[in-house]
Amino acid sequence: MAQQAALRTQIGIIGAGPAGLLLSHLLHLAGIASIIVETQTRQHVEARIRAGVMEQGTADLLREAGLGQRMDREGLVHHGIELRFCGQGHRIDFADLANGQGVMVYGQHEVVKDLIAARLAAGGEIVFAASKVSVEGLDSDRPSIRFTPPEGRAQEIACDFIAGCDGFHGICRLAISNGALTAFERVYPFAWLGILAEATPSAEELVYAHHARGFALLSMRSPAISRLYLQCAPTEDIAQWPDERIWDELQLRLVAGPGWHLTQGRVLQKGITPMRSFVVEPMQVGRLFLAGDSAHIVPPTGAKGMNLAIADVVMLARALEAFYKSRRTDLLEAYSATCLKRVWKAQRFSWWMTQIFHRFPGEVPFDQRRQIAELDYVATSTAAATALAENYTGLPML
Ligand code: FAD
Ligand code: PHB
Repeated sequence: MAQQAALRTQIGIIGAGPAGLLLSHLLHLAGIASIIVETQTRQHVEARIRAGVMEQGTADLLREAGLGQRMDREGLVHHGIELRFCGQGHRIDFADLANGQGVMVYGQHEVVKDLIAARLAAGGEIVFAASKVSVEGLDSDRPSIRFTPPEGRAQEIACDFIAGCDGFHGICRLAISNGALTAFERVYPFAWLGILAEATPSAEELVYAHHARGFALLSMRSPAISRLYLQCAPTEDIAQWPDERIWDELQLRLVAGPGWHLTQGRVLQKGITPMRSFVVEPMQVGRLFLAGDSAHIVPPTGAKGMNLAIADVVMLARALEAFYKSRRTDLLEAYSATCLKRVWKAQRFSWWMTQIFHRFPGEVPFDQRRQIAELDYVATSTAAATALAENYTGLPML
């Protein structure tokens, strides 16, 4: 294969999602060089609608890293969520239960736009639309990334370390030799059908609804844009869901008493997301460090995925800074164990939120009664509501 002269950087980053972009930004603030290689175009990653809720600690961290201006102008700070079951709403008040903590409702694609703008303004290097991306020499002290840029010949970047921030379907985790990783997985027998709509949100805060027809979630992106989800079959064909059917189903599942009407509007985007819990251990092998969805996936019911991705790269940036500033390797060696502690707590919470709200095939009427009893317990017990509030707004970073 014809190759151009090798490029050189300290940290080679695969993937320009929240994990890869924030890592590159934090490294830059610490005076460490990096190059990001991404298979999609800039337009694609900036338009990909995904997470909407950030923990308080995640929003604080973005502010501290100088990325908070637009988020603070356009994001919505919420101090509670509503649990809706048996047609009635029950507010969980974070301000009371989680020491005044809240969450920030600000779309992941907006975070990605802010990060890309900050990296490019600081002269950061991001190769978009790369193809044939691979990693080599992970067990050596000079690992490398090979890729082909959109125009031009194959290239190689020699690195000190590689960060695999390439999401669940990326190549980094798969590049680790057989037997070095243990995977823990649970695939759920349902998916979410999500829409983004030009409609004033029908509630001021997020509504998580338990319903005999299946789970529904009312979320938002701004005072004019709603984001709504419905539990559906994992094999569901989106073509079978014209907009009118989606609105009718959402109205049925979200209803809160007679006369309650969901505000409708033009559907801007719709899609189906499968649900899975997944963790690989360890999150580092040789000079490759996995971060974010490349190492773990949570079902979105707990709103934890992007928060975990961000917490991982904060740990990784600190460990790399300690390595370059004082040749310390202890934080790099502890990276996987440190992250996994938090990852498993978020896995537990995401699983709990998922099992309490969804209909499961093969369940018996006992299971629905048990779910309602548990929701009622959370709605009426300060101890149970506190557990939800502190997990939802975010456990401490360390
Ligand atoms: P990604 O965002 O997946 O980024 C990986 C990047 O790597 C992508 O840009 C991809 O194109 C690129 N890539 C892939 N393969 C390669 C390759 N071979 N070479 C180079 N680049 C590659 N999380 C929350 O915290 N709160 C929420 O409210 C929430 N809601 C969600 C709702 C939905 C419907 C979904 C689907 C997810 C939600 N999440 C939520 C989860 C969140 O979106 C993810 O956890 C987050 O995107 C993880 O970021 P990441 O950077 O690790 O991975
Ligand atoms: C979203 O707004 O996309 C969202 C909010 C909360 C969740 C999942 C997704 O739990």
